[in-house]
Amino acid sequence: MLFTQRPCETREELFDRDEEIELALRAVRRGAWIAILGIRMSGKTSLAKVVANELRREGFESLYVNLVGVGGIRACAERVLSSLPRSFLNRFESLKAFLEFFNIRVGGEVRLSRSISSARVLEQLFLELSRKKKLVVILDEVQDIRGGVRQFLELLYRLRTATKNLVFIFTGSAIGLMKTLLNPAPTSPLYGRSPIKIELKAWDEETALEFLREGLSECGIAHSDKELREVVSKLGTLPGWLSFYGLRRCIGLPHEKSLEEAETEAVKIAEDEIHNILESRGEWAKKALRMMAYGARWSEILAETGVSTRTLRDFLQTLRNLYLIAEDGGVYRISDPVYRRAALKIR
Ligand SMILES: Nc1ncnc2c1ncn2[C@@H]1O[C@H](COP(=O)(O)OP(=O)(O)O)[C@@H](O)[C@H]1O
Ligand SMILES: [Mg+2]
Repeated sequence: MLFTQRPCETREELFDRDEEIELALRAVRRGAWIAILGIRMSGKTSLAKVVANELRREGFESLYVNLVGVGGIRACAERVLSSLPRSFLNRFESLKAFLEFFNIRVGGEVRLSRSISSARVLEQLFLELSRKKKLVVILDEVQDIRGGVRQFLELLYRLRTATKNLVFIFTGSAIGLMKTLLNPAPTSPLYGRSPIKIELKAWDEETALEFLREGLSECGIAHSDKELREVVSKLGTLPGWLSFYGLRRCIGLPHEKSLEEAETEAVKIAEDEIHNILESRGEWAKKALRMMAYGARWSEILAETGVSTRTLRDFLQTLRNLYLIAEDGGVYRISDPVYRRAALKIR
């Protein structure tokens, strides 16, 4: 099934992305860690899960941890512990004793007592899990760890040198913690051991159309090329938005309604994303984004916003690291039509 309302889990569910899967598998076989980067709805979580699933065939156990909105390292440790499947208790023999020692019960929300060092629990847990088995851990949206970043990076480094059985797949945007992971300072212990970067871009139009065609044919829905071209011109080529449309058609909704609903939902999500980005920034940032919805030159944005060159440079770099904007011939532009529309709605 190509169109689902959740991240893809198996290779059959994931359209295109073969090169990325193979690259990830080769990297892991050579002991490298992986960073999957892209804008929301590019398919990061899906790729990470499919890679972990493929690795299962090579004897890896896997653990998925969603770090969206996590904040600090303590909350991160709690998320990791809350993500442990019950089945791990049978598959990892001394895990039960380990958890009992820290007074942790799996299945449900785990709260760590204040007296326990979260970094230490995490370290011990990962070492415990990789003592006898190979384990791949997906840390989804890792840049959301905002507190205790240094501590966390040091923890990763210790794990990197302590065991060969443990592989991390990080997903997210190249900001905050992820940025440091990808570009460690020469003095950092992680220097020269950065994760292998896999960037998920929006598809080209042909691939997007092929995705829609294949998905709709698979569920036996008659469709015209004209309809599909309309979808791509409205929704762009990010897998997520397209699958919003495809899913609706596959459950029997007509073209117009599917497109309208998909668009409404997509713009809402994109607006959310943009709100998050603008959160700690002033009115000028809204203005800059709105300008970039149409496409604007650096000098124009600078003149309109009145901020310093440094402030603007940092902002644009962040937006590029988020894969929200691209620069072409000196013109900065929001690449995706859904995000463009969302930016224009921001007040
Ligand atoms: N390559 C792909 N083939 C099929 N569906 C995809 C693909 N990539 C993403 N999707 C679909 O798009 C939606 C968003 O994907 P997700 O992996 O959650 O993106 P991200 O984590 O980057 O926000 C999901 O419903 C998923 O099923
Ligand atoms: Mg995701």
